[in-house]
Amino acid sequence: MENLKSFLDKNIFKIIAAASHDMGVDAYVIGGYVRDRIMGRDTGGDIDIVAIGSGMDLAAKVAEKLGKKTKVNYYKNFGTAMLWHNEERELLVEFVGARKESYNRDARKPIVEDGTLEDDQNRRDFTINAMAISLQQKDFGSLLDPFDGIGDIGRKIIRTPLDPDITYSDDPLRMMRAIRFATQLDFIIEEKSFESISKNRERIKIVSGERVADELNKIILARKPSYGFKLLEQTGLLQIIFPQLVDLKGAETVDGRGHKDNFYHSLQVLDNLSENTDNLWLRWAALLHDIAKPATKRYEPKIGWTFHSHEFVGAKMVPRIFKQLKLPMNEKMRYVKKLVLLHLRPIVLSKEEITDSAIRRLLFEAGDDIDDLMMLCEADITSKNPGKVKRYLSNFKLVRKKLVEIEEKDRVRNFQPPVSGELIMETFGIRPCREVGTIKNAIKDAILDGIIPNEYEAAFGYMLKKGKELGLKPVDG
Ligand code: CTP
Repeated sequence: MENLKSFLDKNIFKIIAAASHDMGVDAYVIGGYVRDRIMGRDTGGDIDIVAIGSGMDLAAKVAEKLGKKTKVNYYKNFGTAMLWHNEERELLVEFVGARKESYNRDARKPIVEDGTLEDDQNRRDFTINAMAISLQQKDFGSLLDPFDGIGDIGRKIIRTPLDPDITYSDDPLRMMRAIRFATQLDFIIEEKSFESISKNRERIKIVSGERVADELNKIILARKPSYGFKLLEQTGLLQIIFPQLVDLKGAETVDGRGHKDNFYHSLQVLDNLSENTDNLWLRWAALLHDIAKPATKRYEPKIGWTFHSHEFVGAKMVPRIFKQLKLPMNEKMRYVKKLVLLHLRPIVLSKEEITDSAIRRLLFEAGDDIDDLMMLCEADITSKNPGKVKRYLSNFKLVRKKLVEIEEKDRVRNFQPPVSGELIMETFGIRPCREVGTIKNAIKDAILDGIIPNEYEAAFGYMLKKGKELGLKPVDG
């Protein structure tokens, strides 16, 4: 039996061992912590403890040993308890009693049932998550690995301890978890498991959208997210949870002219971008940037395939998709929507002669997200033609250079009009009306078009001129 005492290097393990000894209840470290230590990954600060008895009682005993200030949360319905412990960093320790069954299939509620360690390991999701390390004095640190999780780590395989049909119907979210772990760890899903996911895919519908979204986000945050999306698509899960993405799949040909497959293109953009950023929402924008291509696709005999306005239609789809996927309906959503809307702008700019006013307008609209937008656009270059790629990239360089120059000169990135609506009303002695908006817009356009500088004096003069054109007179002049 392998001894992994060296992984029990935190003080908390000694305390748990002492508490379990006092109570005469066996306890083991299990799950992600064991897996991640064996794999040499960051454990993320979460530790799962399984007690052969009451997990809640063991948590209470541990808290007692740690001192009064220790915060413990008890979840009676689930028979679990959590406590926070500050060691070299904040650790979240979760206690659970060993169980025979994981979930009641119909009520979708876990049932608490006393079981042995082996029962508990049987009901866990994957062999690599079912490994336990003993905290008992007699064999402190020994590994209990009944399903050869260690072997599966070596073979890079995701496998369920029991028949996958049983494991997945116990908690259908595990189908997403299988794909998520495969993506994060760069593992392969064992064939039987893969088939079982395909077969049971409809059951994902009984899982809450929030849990599904958590897994999707973890897939998106992996080093190479395309792998996860391809697995989701191949198993048929994607069609159920996010059909709009599947709609991007396929390339039609008319008169011998085809277009690229936008599903694989979007995944390639996501992978490209992921090499440069861990920003989850920017990664979402990459995944969604062409989401309206199926809805806007036309074949025009003279031109070929077009996707006119897919950026506008796509931006409009973003709130609906976020709502459907239970993603936050807040500024994160608005950020993704904005990037989808603007994703063609730098490309168009780099194709045309780059005027100062076009750059100013882009800066004005993108604001502080301009760098993210540029990163997205560079990731969007997936052409196989090296000459084209080189040309695009060098044009982008020029756009970036111009962006810096113009921003230094005109400061329009977070544009605030130098003349406010109040000042316009005060100057002409008018109440809120259409003219106020007209003058404000005219000033903004004049600045962005470079007719006047982004300064108070010039804007004030321009306001007087525009007011006069509209038949307005300043009150005291
Ligand atoms: N588990 C399970 N079935 C689930 C969720 C969790 O069997 N649907 C078990 C696994 O043994 C897992 C442990 O509970 O290792 C802890 O779950 P969780 O904290 O969600 O996952 P980790 O494995 O710790 O990995 P990560 O932190 O990356 O999510």
